[in-house]
Amino acid sequence: MPDSGYVHSLFSSIAERYVLANHVLSLGMDILWRLRVLECISEWKPVHLLDVATGTGDLALSIKREFPEIDVVGTDFCESMLQIARRRGLEQTICADAMQLPFKDGSFDVLTVAFGLRNMENYAAALREFRRVLSPGGHLLILDFSMPQGIVLEAYRLYLHRILPLMAGWLTSRKGAYAYLGRSIEQFPREGKMFQLLRSTGYSNPISLSLCGGIAVIYTAEQSCKSTRPSLRVG
Ligand SMILES: C[S@@+](CC[C@H](N)C(=O)[O-])C[C@H]1O[C@@H](n2cnc3c(N)ncnc32)[C@H](O)[C@@H]1O
Repeated sequence: MPDSGYVHSLFSSIAERYVLANHVLSLGMDILWRLRVLECISEWKPVHLLDVATGTGDLALSIKREFPEIDVVGTDFCESMLQIARRRGLEQTICADAMQLPFKDGSFDVLTVAFGLRNMENYAAALREFRRVLSPGGHLLILDFSMPQGIVLEAYRLYLHRILPLMAGWLTSRKGAYAYLGRSIEQFPREGKMFQLLRSTGYSNPISLSLCGGIAVIYTAEQSCKSTRPSLRVG
């Protein structure tokens, strides 16, 4: 799993170029993926929403624009990414590690994390911390890259591991950053494994929605009221 020190220095170094690089390298598809997220959120009608690993605020800002009535808070452990989010108009931002969120239990009815969980050092610990700050029955939404299946898989691997780092190196001057991206996508749990991880960390009803032939995916799940910690048996 990724090393958090490396991830922190990586995003600090590309913060200024991140928004442009993101849109160019995903050929603008990240904008469409965020629209699908908005559709999910419109069904849940949350009052308090936390966007973890908000980065430069793309998702949090589009949620706030679409649903101004929702109280949206963005957190990230990289201050230089948050500075850009603030500059772009995100009002509530807190610099915090996703592994130790500075909120009371049950503070939010929806928690979103876009292209963030994959970069965290311990997926299970992060998911448990998200569960803690979600209210009972609250919704978790993960948007992230995935790997397509079938005949396009090898062509996509060529793009991901060879072409994308070259283009990204040109856009951000950090070719290594995007070599890391490919590795992290390959290692990120997919479908059945992600469902298992979600269930074992205290979520129920996991659902996946494949985007652009499997290049990206949205997972949703509900905070399950049952604790995943072993309970003490009395008597
Ligand atoms: C690829 S960016 C995604 C930003 C944004 N969510 C988006 O959709 O554009 C990943 C973000 O995750 C943040 N991040 C990675 N690990 C983190 C952690 N342990 N705690 C908080 N933020 C973290 C990074 O600082 C970075 O801003």
